[in-house]
Amino acid sequence: MDQRFPSIDDMERTALRRIPRFASEYLRGGIGREACLRRNRDALDQVLFDPCYLQEQEVNRPALGVELLGRAYALPFGIGPLGLSGLMWPGAVDILARVASEANIPMGLSHFATSHMSDFRATAGTNGWFQFYPARDPEMRHAMLEEIAATGFEVLIVTVDIPTATRRDRELRVGLSVPPEISVSTLFEVATHPRWALATLREGTPAFKNLAPYVPRGLSMAEQAAFLTDMIEGHVTRDILRDIRDQWAGKLIVKGVMTVEDARTALDCGADGVWVSNHGARQLDAARSPVEVLPAIRAALEPDIPLMADSGPRTGLDVARMLALGADFVFLGRSFIFAVAAIGARGGDHAVHVLREELHCALAQIGCPSVRELPRFLASCSRQD
Ligand SMILES: Cc1cc2nc3c(=O)[nH]c(=O)nc-3n(C[C@H](O)[C@H](O)[C@H](O)COP(=O)(O)O)c2cc1C
Repeated sequence: MDQRFPSIDDMERTALRRIPRFASEYLRGGIGREACLRRNRDALDQVLFDPCYLQEQEVNRPALGVELLGRAYALPFGIGPLGLSGLMWPGAVDILARVASEANIPMGLSHFATSHMSDFRATAGTNGWFQFYPARDPEMRHAMLEEIAATGFEVLIVTVDIPTATRRDRELRVGLSVPPEISVSTLFEVATHPRWALATLREGTPAFKNLAPYVPRGLSMAEQAAFLTDMIEGHVTRDILRDIRDQWAGKLIVKGVMTVEDARTALDCGADGVWVSNHGARQLDAARSPVEVLPAIRAALEPDIPLMADSGPRTGLDVARMLALGADFVFLGRSFIFAVAAIGARGGDHAVHVLREELHCALAQIGCPSVRELPRFLASCSRQD
């Protein structure tokens, strides 16, 4: 236990000091005026539990493990996919892939990661899932899916909530580009963030390693980024999803679902599970929080349909809140990068440790014997049914 960082919030404060601004603004920010970012937090804070203290039997070792998609995981939370993680903290994916494997929790590798899928798969093992942004061009999409399957991934996450190029004020203000453009302010940022600079020297310039075979040669990084935006621009239509289902033999999860209708459509198109997410408040400032939509989506689906959720949780208690509202599993995104940036190679382990302890304390405090039983401890004012 690293006493300096008792919570993810403590890690975040240090991380944001250590990461140059051009990358930290990308990591921390939401879209627009960040009302959705605040809403994600506020909605979680409003989910309350009623404790049961006068128990018939002792409840001092609540069961935290869960089954998901036919596999046992040690904890009901995992590491979400973050694009460009190597820009935010060099080597973060490798560090977290090892954590996922050792802690027996899943981790999603972003299609736009700066680590190659085969390295990630080798470290994370079957705990590594692949997050896919479907290319509009069917041939390219098929080639990509073949490569992902050949690398050995068993779970594919299809993200559907980026139908159009995203416009975030913080990124525009700092002029985010990959790699960072050399300017006086970039050089100043790098010089004043020596840990980040040294780690970047060690790891090399970040690049979209999983997309290299599909991007025409000879393009500048700016041109590559424009090519990729164009490659995925547009909605993931039902036909595209069915086409992916036809080709992908493993488990298929649709990420970015925020309505009952989309959840049903995803399942009708052959998905094995649904991931409720507003992309960490990064796409639509007028979006509801997953906390607000989870109960209705849970109620609309068969109880055995795996339902995942993210966007906002920073504590083990927050994980418990989402589970109580109907999620089977919760992912955290920014939190794990904050942990690695603040602490280094053991940061991910420490984040898991903190979240596990907080979750354990929450269940033990309310008298809940296992994460599956959390819904019955929801305070009546938090029930939306
Ligand atoms: C910097 C950053 C990059 C992200 N990149 C991706 C991505 O490439 N693919 C994806 O499906 N989601 C991406 N997400 C969304 C996360 O997977 C996740 O939904 C979100 O971070 C959860 O919210 P949290 O950060 O509050 O935990 C990204 C989020 C952040 C903060």
